[in-house]
This record gives sequence, structure tokens and C-alpha cells, in this order.
Amino acid sequence: MEESSQDFSYAWEDCDASENIAVNATDNTTLGDLILERFPRRKILRGALGATAIATLATGLTAVSAVLCAASRAAVEAARPNFRFKEIAHGVDEKHHVAAGYDADVLIRWGDPVEPDAQPFDPYTQSVATVKGQYGYNNDFIGFVPLPFGSQNSNHGLLCVNHEYTDEEMMFPGFGKYDRAREKATKAITELEMANHGGSILEIERGADGKWAVLGNSKYARRINALDTEMRISGPAAGHKRMRTSEDPSGTKVVGTVNNCAGGVTPWGTYLMAEEKFNGYFWGNLREHPKEGLLDSNQLEAPFEGAFTDHPEMSNYQRYGVPANRYPWGRFHKRWNIHAEPNEPNRFGWIVEVDPLNPKSTPVKRTALGRFKHEGAAPIVNKDGRVVVYSGDDQRFEYLYKFVSTDRFHTTDREANFNVLDKGTLFVAKFHAEGRVTWLALVWNTGPLTPKNQFHSQADVLIETRRAADLLGATKMDRPEDVEPNPKTNKVYVMLTNNSKRGNGELDKVHDRAGNIWGQIVELSPPDGDHAALEARWDILVKCGNPKARGVGAMWNPATTVNGWFACPDNCTIDPDGCLWIATDQGGKWWKTSGSADGVWGLETEGVLRGTGKMFFRGPVGGEICGPCFTPDGETLFVAVQHPAIDGAKKYKPFGRHSTFADPATRWPDFDPRIPPRPSIVVITKKGGGKIGR
Ligand code: FEO
Ligand code: CA
Ligand code: CA
Ligand code: CA
Repeated sequence: MEESSQDFSYAWEDCDASENIAVNATDNTTLGDLILERFPRRKILRGALGATAIATLATGLTAVSAVLCAASRAAVEAARPNFRFKEIAHGVDEKHHVAAGYDADVLIRWGDPVEPDAQPFDPYTQSVATVKGQYGYNNDFIGFVPLPFGSQNSNHGLLCVNHEYTDEEMMFPGFGKYDRAREKATKAITELEMANHGGSILEIERGADGKWAVLGNSKYARRINALDTEMRISGPAAGHKRMRTSEDPSGTKVVGTVNNCAGGVTPWGTYLMAEEKFNGYFWGNLREHPKEGLLDSNQLEAPFEGAFTDHPEMSNYQRYGVPANRYPWGRFHKRWNIHAEPNEPNRFGWIVEVDPLNPKSTPVKRTALGRFKHEGAAPIVNKDGRVVVYSGDDQRFEYLYKFVSTDRFHTTDREANFNVLDKGTLFVAKFHAEGRVTWLALVWNTGPLTPKNQFHSQADVLIETRRAADLLGATKMDRPEDVEPNPKTNKVYVMLTNNSKRGNGELDKVHDRAGNIWGQIVELSPPDGDHAALEARWDILVKCGNPKARGVGAMWNPATTVNGWFACPDNCTIDPDGCLWIATDQGGKWWKTSGSADGVWGLETEGVLRGTGKMFFRGPVGGEICGPCFTPDGETLFVAVQHPAIDGAKKYKPFGRHSTFADPATRWPDFDPRIPPRPSIVVITKKGGGKIGR
């Protein structure tokens, strides 16, 4: 570990580095290989491809960005940008910043009451009873569902928010950065952690003064958590023997959801929570499984004395990095211990669907969408009425997926859609050098997905989605994060956040971006806007990083200013005018990738300005920006600030050390000397009203 001498870090800031484990052992090609095939190295090194050469590429590459010649520069200057705010500057400090003429107000913070009887926040007296009704930690995805349902009301609605994970050193007095799974861990602490995971459903309203507020005593208010929220398992893997546990012999019920990163809102107004790095929550050792019987609750903490064997799910779990022992929950709770409940990890890594309009509804894990480290889940109604959901598997060298439903979206009968995500086909992407993507179906008993390869049913294919995709020859990518279809253009944007571990062995094909710490954005163009098609075209929108820095190999439209470029795209959203907005997550290395705190940028996708970024919002030091989400009128933008004060605090010169509860790099957003920094949602509106960015 870079910032710790330990073999393994329990701090999530270091999670990126610890996820470098080579769990994808296949020799499938990488997209980087293909980009290099299409942009020969010597041309990239020259910093520009000739516009003519580009235009003649059969792929129709529109990455003219880096390559505008003098003649077209005039056209750029004359072009009317979509993003017409006054750009803010790169930088890093303890506050948040938004473009002039906009307000950026805090809507809700970690610990604020959500459920009607919830207690006010007091970080010194936390208990499961109080925390369960309060806003959880590390807000990530944000979805907006207008009220009444079916309307385009932009002044009243439900906000659906994920709480991805917990940072103990900022939550609990006395915790150090690496204490989570060590001596400070107690059963009570693990339960507070579980209660702070999951999601929140908030009813919010915009008042006559233009300001948004969370409504108290809302009938919709709900906290979903990892401790005791019961969920149903549905789809082809439901009930399979590999999904059964001692507490759920049916294989159809599970308690809790974890590491809910990004997500989506379906056309029928349900909220999709993506389970991402679920491996971190499981405890044990794959090579030290009890030979006889299983551990019971009394045996979880003491070293096991009996004979060992390999875990029955060894190869499956290795492919996902289970168990990562990042959270010590399995020391106190059977469910998270792979020697007490050997199948429990098969019940995580799914997309969870929640009906926010019915607070009594049971969330459902939809297994048809596959099991992997889902960054998010972005649905779109295809032109034939089928529902397509795009999802990236966020780990180095993992894959890009889409699900295509069998049934069509019912426009008039909301509940008729409730099982649409149970039946359909999951596909994985294979990128080809000449600009095509082919979508390979993960269907049991086709191709290599047969009993010969230990796939005995579609349930096996879905439980081991990664291995099935390996066998199909999917393209190994640079950590696919958000994947968003643009409903105006039907193009799809794929955030490839970074891949610092593109090793020397791959340098012959990915020369200028080996050790890619900056990431890139790929654009897919389905034929005639058909998201269900088995092919699409691909193109590079931008290659992130400083376009002026030698050796970075960035690719931006030259109209991009010194503040308009960014690194490590993570979440993104499309505003109601069809314009793309990007939020970044540089992790602890922001000082190296850009030198700026994370933020939100507008990014032009069409015309001569294509590939021009423009900085709109900047978060406080150590925080990542998540969940950008617009109201249907485009007049409000919600963003989530995750883990303020943490990432790279040691490299923030005015501070220069790890942050803790008592000693944080910033106390954003309260700046109260007794209160630690708090992950919060910021709501951005234009002074005097109007569309954001226009
Ligand atoms: Fe939770 Fe892929 O970020
Ligand atoms: Ca993310
Ligand atoms: Ca990320
Ligand atoms: Ca995160």
C-alpha cells in the first residue's frame, strides 16, 4: 500500500490501490490496445492528428478535438457553446465553489433526520437506534422522481440517494485512519457502519423563494440499510442452491445492500441502487475453510482450530476479490463470514430496485442484470419499447455490460413494469479496432457457457458474470464507471475513470497511456439509435488529463481552457437539453492527476466545440463529487459531496496530514469546531431562475 506499510489497508481512500489485484487473469484485449491501433503512437506523440487524416478514417472518428487546424479555429470561436456560464478555476481549498450567478446551498448532511421520528445529529452519542432514521454516510447516486408521479414537476419530488460506504476515522471520535478492522472495531461499531450504508428517500420541495428543503414527516421518507432492510431476490438466479444460506434456505431473501455507488431511475419511477465493491464486506480466507461443518456465531472471533480445506466457491470468489476483509463485520455477524455462510457473497453484487413511492415496498435484487462491481445502472426505453440498462464493472480491466429486457415498457400501467428487469438478455461489450463494438450475449448453453465450463444454468452464468464474460472474449477496460445514454441523441457515454496498472507488458499496444491515471470518455453510437442492437460504433470523446503537460497524451478540443480539462471522470448526467455534465473522482492522487479538487464540468459533445470542457463546480478538499442530477426543467442541479476532507489530505499543503474526526482538513459544510466534515448534497440553482448552464 502506498500510504501504509500494511499488507492490506482498511481505509477506503486506499481502496483504489488495493483493487489493483489482478482478478482478471484472461488475455482478452484491452480497449487501450484498440485506441492505439486506431491512433498510431507516433501521431499521438506529435500531439495532433491531421484533420484530413481523421476525416478519412473509416470509423468516422469525431475526435477532431485535438486536431483543429487554423482554418477551423475561426469556426470554434464563432460557435455558440452549450455551456454559457463563467468558468471557475482549478484549485483546492476547504470550501465549495460554483460559477458566478449561481447559488450552491447544502440540502442535507450526514446524520440529518430522514425518517419522521429521527433524532437530530449528534456525532458524540451515535447509536443504531438514532442512526437508522438519519441520513447515511457518503452520499453517491442521486435520482429525482417528480411528484405527483408521471408529472414533470420540477419543484416537488423524491430524491433517491445512495450511501456508498463509511469512513470511520471521520465518523467516530478516537478512530484513526486504519482502525476500522483493527482494535477499535466492536460489534456496536459494525452495526453503526451497516446502518450508515444503503440509501435514503427524501421528499423535497422548492419554496416560493426558490430554495429547496427536505420535508419533515414525509410519508415517503425512508432509510434503507445494510443492517436490517429485508430484500427479495428475483430473476434467474433467485432460489438457486448457490444463493441459499442457513438463514434463507429459499435463496430468495436477503438482508441489506452494500457499497451502493451510482444507480438509476427507471421510466416507471423506481430507483436502482448498484452494489459495487461488495467484496470488501466479507471476512475470511479462501484457503482456510473448515473441512467439517461451518462456523457458528460463537466461533467467529476466535481462531478456528479444526482442519482446513479450500472454500467451495474459491474460483468464483477469487474473480471478485472476495473476501477483502475490509470491514470486520464477519467477526461479529455470521452473514458476512464466508466460513459461516459460504454462499452469502453470491447474494451481493447485484442491482437493487426500490419503489420510492411505496415506503413499505420490499427492495428487489434483480439478478438478470448480472453480478459484478456495478458502478451504476442507467436505463433507457429503446425505440421498440424494450428497456435497456447500461452498467460498468468498476475495476481495472473489467467490462462494460448492457441488459435488454424481453418485455416492453408499459406507458400507462406503472405496476406492469415492476418485473420488466427480471426477464431479458445481458450482454458484454467487445471493442473492435475499426470502430465497432459488438455486444456478446451471456446466455447459458450458448458458446462456451456450458456445463463443460461449469455453467449448469443461467443462474451460474449470472452468479459468475465476470467468468462468463471472460470466456466470451470481452474487452478489458480502464475501470468503467458511469455509463449514460443521451435520450436526445441516443449516444451513450462511458466514463473510463483511470487504470494506473496498465502494465509494462501492455506498453507495446497502449504506449502513451500506460499507467493511465487520468481516464478517458468513450462515446457509443448505436445504429439508428437502437440500444438493443448487437453492434454500435465507438469513438473517443476526450482523453483526460492536462493537454499541455508532456507525456500525458491528453486529447481535448483546443477551445478548452486551463480550467476546462479534468481527470478521472466518474459520474455523469445528461441535462434536459441533451448536454453532458461530468463529475470527477481522482481519489487520493488529485495532486498528481490535476492538482485541483474534484468538481463538475460541462463537456461539449457535438459540432466544432466537441471535446471542450468547462468547469462549473468545485468541491472541498478531499471530497469526491457524485450523483449529478437535474430536475426535468433543468433549473436545479443536485450534486453529492462524498468523503470531504479525506482523499489526499496529506498532500493538501495547508494541512499536510491524514484527516480524522478531531483533526480534519476541512469541517465542510458546517465549519463548526465540534462537528466533523459531513458528506452532503449541494443544490445548485441560478440566481433569479433559469436553466443551469444556459
Ligand atoms: Fe464507487 Fe466506481 O466508484
Ligand atoms: Ca463512482
Ligand atoms: Ca470512482
Ligand atoms: Ca466513491
